[in-house]
Amino acid sequence: MAGMQGNLQFQFQNKTAVITGGAQGIGFQIALQFLEAGAKVSIWDYSEQALANAKTELSRFTSQLHLAKVDVGQRESCAHAVASLPWAVDILVNNAGITRDKSFAKMTGEDWDAVISTNLTGLFNVTKALFEKFNQTSLHKRIINISSVVGLYGNFGQTNYAAAKAGVIGMTKTWGKELARKGWTVNAIAPGFIQTAMTKAVPKEVLDQMTAKVPAARLGEPTDIANTCLFLASEQASYINGTVISVDGGLVV
Ligand SMILES: NC(=O)c1ccc[n+]([C@@H]2O[C@H](COP(=O)([O-])OP(=O)(O)OC[C@H]3O[C@@H](n4cnc5c(N)ncnc54)[C@H](O)[C@@H]3O)[C@@H](O)[C@H]2O)c1
Repeated sequence: MAGMQGNLQFQFQNKTAVITGGAQGIGFQIALQFLEAGAKVSIWDYSEQALANAKTELSRFTSQLHLAKVDVGQRESCAHAVASLPWAVDILVNNAGITRDKSFAKMTGEDWDAVISTNLTGLFNVTKALFEKFNQTSLHKRIINISSVVGLYGNFGQTNYAAAKAGVIGMTKTWGKELARKGWTVNAIAPGFIQTAMTKAVPKEVLDQMTAKVPAARLGEPTDIANTCLFLASEQASYINGTVISVDGGLVV
């Protein structure tokens, strides 16, 4: 990111992370910053093309990197990926997500199922499949779920997405309660408008309207989310549990 600082202070030399949807966009930036901070990273993504690009872009980290083609909506696919994982896991970032936006009147059952399957059931599938693969002796296990501001306040045209992202928050709070005494913290990040390939395709006047709603008067960068992720994954964040951190420039204030 031009003009933005990546990770400078966090050290994850002895840690391993799984990042779903890590082959592009926000997930890619999260994977990159964990790699830069010394972690071993396994990227799980269902796009072969995006995985191939990520492998090339991250070639300088080959010894720290594992890539797996996984559809988080498919339990068997998750089980396969867990079996191929070369390391026990310290950090899981549930980031894979899709949109199928339409007004409620036009939304089909397929639109609903696709988004719930990836953005909500996908988190259950991945976390369930990886649960036994966590580094059991670690007192600093981390699950970080990527929700959205839309899960907090709803959004026109996003019945499916808002429901899934609100569900992610419910899951996060429940796991925070259940798992904390076993050495996990479980938190969610609720990004606002973040510039990715998706937003780069949005017409300038629409982007300007979106930006005008943000008190910080800019869209977010993937590194804004990655920085929060690295902080939550750090040992210094060990008393932050079961919460949702909005990273949105003040959009939901
Ligand atoms: N971009 C934003 O403004 C924004 C705002 C709030 C929340 N988010 C959330 O952040 C996360 C990342 O979004 P992004 O903007 O980087 O999106 P993106 O489309 O750029 O990247 C998503 C990645 O997830 C992968 N993926 C999708 N479905 C998958 C599946 N079933 N199995 C495995 N991999 C799958 C894709 O191949 C892709 O690599 C999503 O959960 C999204 O809902 C994004």
